Amino acid sequence: MSGRGTGADVARGNAGARAFDAIVIGAGAAGLMCAAVAGQRGARVLLLDHATKLAEKIRISGGGRCNFTNVNAGPANYLSQNPHFCRSALSRYTPADFIALVKSHRIPFHEKHRGQLFCDRGSEDIIAMLDAECRAGGVDRRMGVKVAGIRREAAGDDFVVETDAGEFRAARVVIATGGPPIPKIGATDFGHRIARQFGLKVVESRPALVPLTFDAREWQPFAGLAGIACEVGIGCGEGHFVEDLLFTHRGLSGPAVLQISSYWRPGEPISIDLLPGRDAAGELLALKRESARRLGPSLAEWLPRRLADVWLEHARAPADRKLAECPDALLRDVAGRLSSWSLVPNGSEGWRKAEVGLGGIDTRELSQSTMEARRVPGLHFIGEVVDVTGWLGGYNFQWAWASGHAAGMAI
Ligand code: FDA
Repeated sequence: MSGRGTGADVARGNAGARAFDAIVIGAGAAGLMCAAVAGQRGARVLLLDHATKLAEKIRISGGGRCNFTNVNAGPANYLSQNPHFCRSALSRYTPADFIALVKSHRIPFHEKHRGQLFCDRGSEDIIAMLDAECRAGGVDRRMGVKVAGIRREAAGDDFVVETDAGEFRAARVVIATGGPPIPKIGATDFGHRIARQFGLKVVESRPALVPLTFDAREWQPFAGLAGIACEVGIGCGEGHFVEDLLFTHRGLSGPAVLQISSYWRPGEPISIDLLPGRDAAGELLALKRESARRLGPSLAEWLPRRLADVWLEHARAPADRKLAECPDALLRDVAGRLSSWSLVPNGSEGWRKAEVGLGGIDTRELSQSTMEARRVPGLHFIGEVVDVTGWLGGYNFQWAWASGHAAGMAI
């Protein structure tokens, strides 16, 4: 990271409060990036977080190895009421920019799957890198500080941030307090409350990238499949993915279901293709002519055996019948149902298990280039607190870096 020194004037009055150019609230992915960029451009930055440990969500991300970006990240990988909003920030700070930063800190990493980049050693490498970048920018970082509120006497005045460590004043405040998932590691709805306090619209939040659950009685036949995984095609609304599905005691999880959960709305069905990329009808009809096999064992060549058995029983299909004795129409019907298995979840595992939240500060309230609230000059929102939600696979961190960078360049 580099830039020009443009520290704003901090010498205005307001006795008692300590003055900075910018106060960033939330020392997670987006807040660390923003503070480092602004600090390195010469701004006097205070970075506050109520947690005592730095960047817990980065630490636990990617199973402890932080899937820190996706080389393919682009606007099409994000959900928002305004899908174009993220375009500007994402194009000005790209996966290549973050990869260059990671390389400059000599952090070893690897590509795991479909452009997803993970640390070889662990997430701590990314936290240490961002912390070092903040130090290089002279950022005053304080952890364990409870923020009681933010006030501004009149438009044009500095903001005063009230905390249990005293009051701090700055012309600019950046809200980087993340989304509601995993309250036990410090997630709060602080950002939404501040937005509402200043009269900004908030798109209601709901859990995303989250396992889906089913009515216990309806799920009973499948509950015994917990732990079984297979690749499927999955669709709901405008979302469609080919990823791994995992059966759980209460429903479905795995990358396929986490991805589709962002598109699912209560009451809607999801559609699962258990045999993606396979012409199941054509293959079953060919097998019928060529072999003496039965339906169940034939399916078990394509699907995990227990899943094939349970699915056929549930579909009331004759697993023990010889293919040669099955009418073509029956085989076509079984194949059709295998490729579009329709299920209606009764809910999700909620904020406790969600990786991110859909919704947040309405993007119509913000400038896409600076992340500043149009109606409240000086107040910026970045990262997950904004109504921009990425797919699973490193996209959410890329949004945190890009939006943090956009605000950091503007303050
Ligand atoms: P983030 O949550 O990182 O930071 C917010 C900060 O604000 C926290 O430090 C919090 O303590 C602080 N804060 C909150 N309220 C406050 C208050 N009132 N006062 C002061 N401070 C306050 N994404 C990805 O791209 N790749 C991955 O591998 C994963 N893996 C993953 C695993 C799990 C289990 C989860 C829950 C999430 C992921 N994610 C992910 C998503 C990713 O972690 C998330 O999108 C980013 O951390 C969001 O960055 P932010 O900076 O916006 O919030």
